[in-house]
Amino acid sequence: MSVTIDWITVAAENEIPPGERLIVEIGRDWVVIFNVDGEFYALEDRCSHEDVPLSEGALIDCTIECHKHGATFDITTGQHLSPPAVAPVKKFPVRLEDGVVQIGKVKR
Ligand code: FES
Repeated sequence: MSVTIDWITVAAENEIPPGERLIVEIGRDWVVIFNVDGEFYALEDRCSHEDVPLSEGALIDCTIECHKHGATFDITTGQHLSPPAVAPVKKFPVRLEDGVVQIGKVKR
């Protein structure tokens, strides 16, 4: 089975400066894109513990802390790092192409 990725342009690079984040809607998903020192990461904007936006939490290095109960996630992988979350959040492929930020939707 082959896997293809549809790349969707979501922002110009300068719309997400280092240390900032942008929330976009892609299909039925809300996605938060982080810029950490020029590297872009994209996660589903929904805590895996309860249905609240992760984008409202504090970002320290590459760790986002959910504002509601304090669970933490690695934004480079989506992996949960501390309770009360017991599951990761969905990670999206992201790339910088000709000065624009693109999110990948995987098609199988
Ligand atoms: S809703 Fe995020 S830790 Fe509870």
